[in-house]
Amino acid sequence: MDHTGYPELDGLLPRLAAIPALDRDALEAERIAVLGRKQGALTAALRAVATLDPAQRKGFGAASNALKAAFEAAFLAREAELAAERLEALGPSVDLTMPGRARWVGALHPITRVVDEILAIFRELGFAVAVGPEAETEWFNFGALNFPPDHPAMDMHDTLYLSQGPGERILLRTHTSPVQVRVMQAGPPPYRVVIPGMCYRNDTADASHTPAFLQIEGLAVDEGIGFVDLKATLTHFARRFFGSATKVRFRPSYFPFTEPSAELDVECQICHGKGCPACKHTGWMELLGCGMVHPAVLTNCGVDAERFTGWAFGLGPGRTAMQRYDVPDLRLMSGADMRFLRQLSGQEGG
Ligand code: PHE
Repeated sequence: MDHTGYPELDGLLPRLAAIPALDRDALEAERIAVLGRKQGALTAALRAVATLDPAQRKGFGAASNALKAAFEAAFLAREAELAAERLEALGPSVDLTMPGRARWVGALHPITRVVDEILAIFRELGFAVAVGPEAETEWFNFGALNFPPDHPAMDMHDTLYLSQGPGERILLRTHTSPVQVRVMQAGPPPYRVVIPGMCYRNDTADASHTPAFLQIEGLAVDEGIGFVDLKATLTHFARRFFGSATKVRFRPSYFPFTEPSAELDVECQICHGKGCPACKHTGWMELLGCGMVHPAVLTNCGVDAERFTGWAFGLGPGRTAMQRYDVPDLRLMSGADMRFLRQLSGQEGG
């Protein structure tokens, strides 16, 4: 708008032109100064229309209304411009309607779950949980367990020795059986314990071995315990864990600390007895080693072997977890590969 044809209105035109340069506070002050109901400069001009004679009134009224509209539009435009500038200063815009990022919820490791489940089954049967040190003396790991010195059974139990000096050698235990000894030494029978813990062997990692692995040991010693108790309890355990229709079998075996000794096999859970690579086409999976506690072990631990008898077992929860979760290779589970563990815990989307 260049001019209105009325000097009293044209006087306001420079102020109209100045609006795009005003800041927030100045803009508000100017709006009141021009359009304010009481003191507004333009308001006063509009009010004057009423006092004019009819001939002048029409033209002046139209011009002042047009000027008013121009001011209003200029104020609105500048206001919008300032609002946009403020938003930009806030940084990149935030989309509040965007769905949130799903968070990873922690879950127990599959082997931990299997350990907990096994311990719970034995708890139902009246077994307590015991633990012992991972660094053991040769006597606890071998001697007390009736391994004769240099017996070939020790070949399977090669491990790291932590001390070579004079006195007894300390090693990383190769099984949880030394804790049997510690439990029996700690007090008189009866004993009913399960013993979870890490064990170490000089084994090359393959589909069913890792050099560091978990075991669960079991020990039951009391008066009048026989092989039938071993068979009944371990069969119950296997069916409680894998399902009541699961086929089991005991095979003769050898351990220096049990006599007689056996291996407990369960029907392969992956092929259900048909034969597959995981069970080496036998249809059976070895679940645990077991046997009647050798009287020499009881005697070594100060337990009267004439009065007390008992049985023991040793189980690898890693292999049990392979069967439970259909995992063909132990190495997949023994690391902490989150891509794999998330699938097993049903959180692959995380
Ligand atoms: N300690 C044996 C092993 O690791 C397993 C076992 C435990 C066997 C108890 C019989 C009784 O091979």
